[in-house]
Parts: sequence; structure tokens; C-alpha cells
Amino acid sequence: MCPSDPVSSGRGAAPPSHRDAQGPPAPAGNGPTVRGNGDLARPPLPDEIVVLRDIKKRFGDQEILKGVNLVARRRETTVIIGGSGAGKTTLLRLIVALERATSGHIFIDGEDVTRVSERELNRVRKKFGMVYQYAALLDSISVFDNVAFPLVEHTRLSKKEISERVLGKLEILGLDPKVVAPKFPSELSGGMRKRVGLARALMLEPPILVYDEPTSGLDPLTSRLVDDLIEEMRQRFGVTSIVISHDIASCFRIAHQAVLLIKGRVEASGPPDELLEGDSDVARDFIRNSAVDVDSLGRVTR
Ligand SMILES: Nc1ncnc2c1ncn2[C@@H]1O[C@H](COP(=O)(O)OP(=O)(O)O)[C@@H](O)[C@H]1O
Ligand SMILES: [Mg+2]
Repeated sequence: MCPSDPVSSGRGAAPPSHRDAQGPPAPAGNGPTVRGNGDLARPPLPDEIVVLRDIKKRFGDQEILKGVNLVARRRETTVIIGGSGAGKTTLLRLIVALERATSGHIFIDGEDVTRVSERELNRVRKKFGMVYQYAALLDSISVFDNVAFPLVEHTRLSKKEISERVLGKLEILGLDPKVVAPKFPSELSGGMRKRVGLARALMLEPPILVYDEPTSGLDPLTSRLVDDLIEEMRQRFGVTSIVISHDIASCFRIAHQAVLLIKGRVEASGPPDELLEGDSDVARDFIRNSAVDVDSLGRVTR
């Protein structure tokens, strides 16, 4: 977890402690354009690394998330799309346990984290690496110190071990550690800053990487590089990615699954191409209105 992110204490609303009834087994796979809840009671399959069941989130008297169901599969990229104010960032903050749901269940790696005590949530948060919109590096300290931060904060490694890991990670991400480590973030290009942000997010080797609007504010060329980087992280480290984006081109390039969030509800979900051809007019219009020529874009494979 990014050290610079103020961890909200949340209200810690405890979920009801009833035992879920076991329902009949759900059908395997979640076919195209899933809009139903599926079977809310069934335990997640091993492949379903992040599962949200009927998640609601209120701030005061405003209900921001109104019963969200979502399944992100291991080693796949799930892209959450939707207009501004739809609740995407709120959803992400619930997933990474920076915020608690008002009701519903969130399973991470099979564990119902809505039942985990506030004290134990740090254990859950360590499963996520977070990459922010503008890389969110601390400008007053060097690249080395930025990348080392999670290790300094969360481990008892020696200075030598930390140094080895930081320089190694920079190298893996295609940065020359000797050149880049002593620099300040402001001395790097946008693409390099993204790589440094990724190096930091990967420091604790989390199984899940989450990105909030990683291409926003970047020129098309750098956006492409970031898309490639997200796919590269998946292939090289086997991570699961959850990406918030309003960049439809990026969604088509990297997503195995797109989830369209409209006013706190999942309007449609499935492979991007199926959203385009599925039965949700809203999803079709959302993609078409982006005026992106989706036929010209590459697609990821599984
Ligand atoms: N901590 C908060 N307190 C009150 N309202 C919030 C808070 N966080 C988000 N909201 C509100 O929730 C709505 C959705 O916000 P957000 O999740 O950031 O949407 P998106 O990322 O899709 O643009 C907005 O109306 C926002 O003002
Ligand atoms: Mg947002």
C-alpha cells in the first residue's frame, strides 16, 4: 500500500454476523454481460480473487454504491469504467480495505474481509499494490527513497537488503538503477515516473495491483506505454489487475473483463467486445459515445 495514502479509519460498520446459507452451486464461468447477482451465498471459487457481493456504501444520507456485484479473476485484468462520480474510486477504496462497506460482502483470496477486524485490515491491505493517477511519488525525496518506502514501513529488512531489492526492482522495470535511483521524481519523464510508481507498488510483491485512472492526463503515446506496462506486470509477475479508467481505448486493449459502473450500479460486465454487442443499450452507447475506433485496437489474450 502506498505509504502516502492516508488510511481512512472508516466507521468500521460491522457486517451482520449471520451464517450464510449454502445455496446450490453456481454455474461455472460468468458468461457474457452478467447483470444478475449470481448466487450470493456461494463461496468464491479459487480463481475468483476479488469478489463483491451486493456492496452498498453510504456517505451520510447519500448512497454512492447501490448493490455492486463483481468478480475479478486471478491473473486477469478487470477494468472498471464509468462516468465521473459513478463511484469508481469509492469502489476501489472498498476493495483495498481503505474504506469499509455499509453492507454486503467482499472476499479477497477467499476471505470475507468485511468480517475482518479493523486491527487486522493491514494484513488485507498488503495484498494490494496501488498505482495512482500521477504516480503520486513524493517529490521531496529521491526515487530510491520513494521505492524503498514500503519496505522501510512494513518490513524489518536491513539497509543492504532494502537497497538490493529497490535497485533490483528498478532494473526489472527497465530503469537503470544507478542513474534513476538518486534522481528526484520531478527529473523524470511521465512514463518513467509511472515505472517508478509501479516499482513501489510491487515492492511487497502483492498478488493484486490496482490502478486509479493510470492513463489520465497522459498523452496517447505514454498511455499506450502504461497499457503495455499493466499487461507486462500481469505476464511477468502473474498479478491480478484492477484498473479504473475512463479511457475506452485502454479498456479494450488490456481488459479481460470490463465493468461499467453507472450511478453506483453495475450496468453491464464482460469482455469489452461483448459489452459492445450485448443487450445493454447503456453499455453500447457508453462505448460508442467515446468515439474510439475499437476495431483498430489490439486485445490481450488470456
Ligand atoms: N469520503 C467521502 N465522503 C462523502 N462523499 C464522498 C466521499 N468519497 C466520495 N464521495 C462521493 O461519492 C461520489 C462518487 O465519488 P467517486 O467514487 O470518487 O466517483 P468516481 O471515481 O467514479 O468519479 C461523489 O459524489 C463523491 O462526492
Ligand atoms: Mg475517481
